[in-house]
Amino acid sequence: MTNEAPQKIYLAEYKPFPFLIDGVELNFDLAPRATRVKSKINFRPNPDSDSREFFLHGENLKLISAKIDGKEISPEVTDLGLTADVPNAPFVFEAEVEISPETNTALEGLYMSGGMYCTQCEAEGFRKITYYPDRPDVMATFKVRIQGSESVLLSNGNPVEQGEGFAEWHDPWPKPAYLFALVAGNLVAHPDSFTTKSGKEVELNIYVRPGDEGKCAFGMEALKRSMTWDEEVYGREYDLDIFNIVAVDDFNMGAMENKGLNIFNSSCVLASPETATDANFERIEGIIAHEYFHNWTGNRITCRDWFQLCLKEGLTVFRDQQFTSDMRSRAVKRIDDVITLRARQFREDNGPLAHPVRPESFVEINNFYTATVYDKGAEIIGMLKRLVGDENYKRALSLYFERHDGEAATIEDWLKVFEDTTGRDLSQFALWYSQAGTPRLKVSEAFEDGTYILTFKQETPPTPGQSEKDPRVIPIAVGLLNPNGDEVRETCVLEMTEEEQSFRFSGLAAKPIPSILREFSAPVILERETTNAERAFLLAHDTDPFNKWEAGRALAKDTITRMLTEDRTVGSDLLDAISKVRRDDSLDPAFRALVLALPSADDIAQTLFDAGHTPDPSRIHTALETVALSYATHLQDVLPKIYADMHIDGPYSPDAEPAGKRALQGAVLSLLSRLDGGNQARAQFAAADNMTQQLQALACLLRIDRGREQLAAFEEQWKDDRLVMDKWFNLQTALAAPEAAVQTTEALTKHAAFDWKNPNRFRATLGGLTGNMAGFHSPDGSGYRLVADWLIKLDAANPQTTARMSTCFDSWRRYDADRQALIKAELTRILETPKLSRDTTEMVTRILGD
Ligand code: ARG
Ligand code: ZN
Repeated sequence: MTNEAPQKIYLAEYKPFPFLIDGVELNFDLAPRATRVKSKINFRPNPDSDSREFFLHGENLKLISAKIDGKEISPEVTDLGLTADVPNAPFVFEAEVEISPETNTALEGLYMSGGMYCTQCEAEGFRKITYYPDRPDVMATFKVRIQGSESVLLSNGNPVEQGEGFAEWHDPWPKPAYLFALVAGNLVAHPDSFTTKSGKEVELNIYVRPGDEGKCAFGMEALKRSMTWDEEVYGREYDLDIFNIVAVDDFNMGAMENKGLNIFNSSCVLASPETATDANFERIEGIIAHEYFHNWTGNRITCRDWFQLCLKEGLTVFRDQQFTSDMRSRAVKRIDDVITLRARQFREDNGPLAHPVRPESFVEINNFYTATVYDKGAEIIGMLKRLVGDENYKRALSLYFERHDGEAATIEDWLKVFEDTTGRDLSQFALWYSQAGTPRLKVSEAFEDGTYILTFKQETPPTPGQSEKDPRVIPIAVGLLNPNGDEVRETCVLEMTEEEQSFRFSGLAAKPIPSILREFSAPVILERETTNAERAFLLAHDTDPFNKWEAGRALAKDTITRMLTEDRTVGSDLLDAISKVRRDDSLDPAFRALVLALPSADDIAQTLFDAGHTPDPSRIHTALETVALSYATHLQDVLPKIYADMHIDGPYSPDAEPAGKRALQGAVLSLLSRLDGGNQARAQFAAADNMTQQLQALACLLRIDRGREQLAAFEEQWKDDRLVMDKWFNLQTALAAPEAAVQTTEALTKHAAFDWKNPNRFRATLGGLTGNMAGFHSPDGSGYRLVADWLIKLDAANPQTTARMSTCFDSWRRYDADRQALIKAELTRILETPKLSRDTTEMVTRILGD
């Protein structure tokens, strides 16, 4: 039995809501299974609409009573909402509903996590709290009264009154319902304060469950840095008397920018040196910044409809990336971002889930909080900035804030401020928002009479629903190097607008070596015939750190793919080039660590597939292990020295510099452990006083002797810390030997601490397996079966996380016919599950394709 096709929503069908709201009052009487929500909403006809149809969203609500202008009404109620006859004049709508937070396992709307009440309303969760026009273009001011026995009762805006068993909040800034939040719990605060540049005093708090107080300091510092940065770089000041952050353990995503009351997945805010890795610290800093920056890009200026999601997310990701590059190393941040972009967004853009940065239709909007909307959305802004220049970018942003403050805006509004600032026509540039797929950029070159000619040809492969693609504007940053290694032409940005286009550089004494797409100036796939000698040259001499790294990465990928397709061995060209960088003390350790890291198995699989081969996960695994061992043997004389040089005296600091040293030390440890039977790793594990080094060592030992002893010690040490135990689950499934991965995962799902309803634990465990390519793609299909079983089980409780995790199957067409048949059978089985959610139905249907 197949579930019936859910309804699609189209961008082209946008219509304004027939009514405007002059103010909302909400009253919550909290009880785990019977919370009463009373609402009072002042509506008036919207002059921009000719409809007077009154429909309010509402799902899973028990309607107790409804009134219009004080008179009881009997509205028509369906699974999706409520319809009533209303006057063609201002009127007051009142309702009382009952909801059950405790049984809300979907974690959308008002739910309970670890004994506290919390909310997640983006995108369409408010309709599970009360009847309301739950769409981002309906903005209103909110007054909220909460009655409950918890010691902390929070909502958006400023506190108005508090007393025994109640609290009242008033948010003076009009906002859409998706930014509503409520928290109630017996929590403790980590308090601080911030004075804005115009002298306004703001109270800051991070609220956590008792026991987590010691993990808030870093997040608080990151928040204050974000507030200062947004004032200095974007001129944006905070606009309420108080800013609260709350950490919750059960959360579908990373965090949420609710006005004045950000709610965070505890994994994205809580950190201490003993429990969080360097990567965790950096990510926390970035997410705190991201949510804070939403106060302007998302909250003060919001989205007209959910098709415009990239308006706030692409821009806010871009801003948090800028922030992190300012706080840490710009070069390292760019390389990290491109690694993530390629791993997630390129994978999505080149498979069945490809969609434009601004999609044209959806069934379930939660399925479009994607790498494409977020990360490609941010890349588009980076390109725009590159094309118009830093000064114009700044002017355009000022105009954006001035013109659209308090509004629900569109991508057209966004592009218009750039057009008005610069006089440029951005209609071709707008294709980046409407066309899906990653452009391929083919490069050829010629040199004659001192003139060097670069010719580019762009082509974007078809994506679902879009067979034809038009040429896009592509900013290509290029620099030229002399054969002796000097730079003869500094970086310039070539603006490609045609399908095929040449650019000339004259007055050159010798044929230069080009460094193309510096800083990864556009999200495209560069295709260029080149040699490993040239890659090694660029790795040694390029002045652009991104392209320097990229040259080393290309060299490694070339070696690995040839090992797999031509039965080559690891060549000395790769080893010598890598070894130079490894030994070069003048380079930033974090950069050296990045050069040492091997491309992921998934990256190799996609590369092979693009070149017309069928990737074999287990051979890819073996090839990567072989290269690592070659690195280790080739560098064995220097490894102990680098390891020792990277030692840091004194207390742990999560700053970029010491973190970079630990990253290089960890990369070296992983090589060393292939030669010394794990001695150094065992020593590091025993001595570690921070999670970064403890986990690095444990990862090495898992590969050697499955780390039995250390796994047990780790579990004993950390069994009461949920976030650390997520790492324990994840490491074992992610790093299990291919033949043991499924079994290990299955055993862990039977562990007493495997709480499958907790998204972090579920993702750590099953997501570890799906990221373990050779294990997940085990030829007997057992990996597929185990994951599908769990997705089916989770779907009944939490559709959102299920749908998101189903993307582990999105690259199924890369593999051989047997694996494709096995995956297809599992996807079909999922789709045939009775009462499968709309979320998962949409995802699996798209993954299967036609
Ligand atoms: N707006 C949040 C962010 O900062 C993401 C929340 C989305 N949540 C969801 N369930 N779709 O990016
Ligand atoms: Zn966001």
